[in-house]
Amino acid sequence: MNPVNLWTSSDHVRDYLERADQISHRTEGEAALLEFIPKGVRRVLDLGTGDGRLLALVRGQHPDTEAVAVDFSPTMLEAAQKRFAADSGVRVVEHNMDSPLPDLGTFDAVISSFAIHHLVHDRKRTLYAEVFGLLNPGGVFCNLEHVASPSQLLHEEFLQRIGFTVETEDPSNKLLELETQLQWLREIGFVDVDCHWKWRELALLAGARAYEFVDAARFARCTAEASVPTWTVTIAGLLRFLRLLRLCLAYRRYLVSSFSDVRLPELRFRFCWLLSRTQGA
Ligand SMILES: C[S@@+](CC[C@H](N)C(=O)[O-])C[C@H]1O[C@@H](n2cnc3c(N)ncnc32)[C@H](O)[C@@H]1O
Repeated sequence: MNPVNLWTSSDHVRDYLERADQISHRTEGEAALLEFIPKGVRRVLDLGTGDGRLLALVRGQHPDTEAVAVDFSPTMLEAAQKRFAADSGVRVVEHNMDSPLPDLGTFDAVISSFAIHHLVHDRKRTLYAEVFGLLNPGGVFCNLEHVASPSQLLHEEFLQRIGFTVETEDPSNKLLELETQLQWLREIGFVDVDCHWKWRELALLAGARAYEFVDAARFARCTAEASVPTWTVTIAGLLRFLRLLRLCLAYRRYLVSSFSDVRLPELRFRFCWLLSRTQGA
């Protein structure tokens, strides 16, 4: 049986869009997410973009980015297309995230808000792994998400605060604890994984993909914050690699010289002595 997901219904979407601006504290979460988008970002992917609300915020701060917005709801896709109609930098793609992501290229930032909790848990995890594979070294994944409360009481309190009850809450929700999701991100290989903002069941989970040569998500963000162009980051990584190579070669030279100067003749002498003894016996 297919898990419930009401987001292809236009009534469901319209009901959400009417109250989207009033969701308590969401603007704080969105502001926190914006902080983690690297300054030199070139390509952004928004998963479950809806009407493109979060992507529009990111592009407001990074207008030169090329963006891809993914969703499966016809009403949402139409709303996103309308929002970005005059913006050739945004491509809106229809895709059901229950299935593996199509080939969309690689990205410096993958973002999402209040969408991935509509997927079953197994798919959430495989999607996180797919996101890791799509990130360029130094890229970030920022997921502003609806997560599970640790108790039913806290869950009901949260619902009440956002104007819902257990009876009226969205049956499409498949909430999962924050800790499990952070642990998954670490296991997949993300670095600097953390929850940077939280209000009750709303949380910002983020992680980065490290550079190969440099301990790097941190380095990437530092350089991005200082608006250092990407080619300098690559050269810095290369220089570190060359320095490591030089150290290895020096150590090898040391080993070779100490063996040939001291130990090898001694070993050769002992071997000949042993041989002569064996032949004499
Ligand atoms: C709560 S809305 C959030 C929309 C938008 N990100 C925002 O912050 O306003 C959830 C979004 O996830 C999308 N969504 C849910 N399940 C999906 C799936 N299986 N594949 C693609 N999109 C999905 C819905 O169509 C909807 O646009």
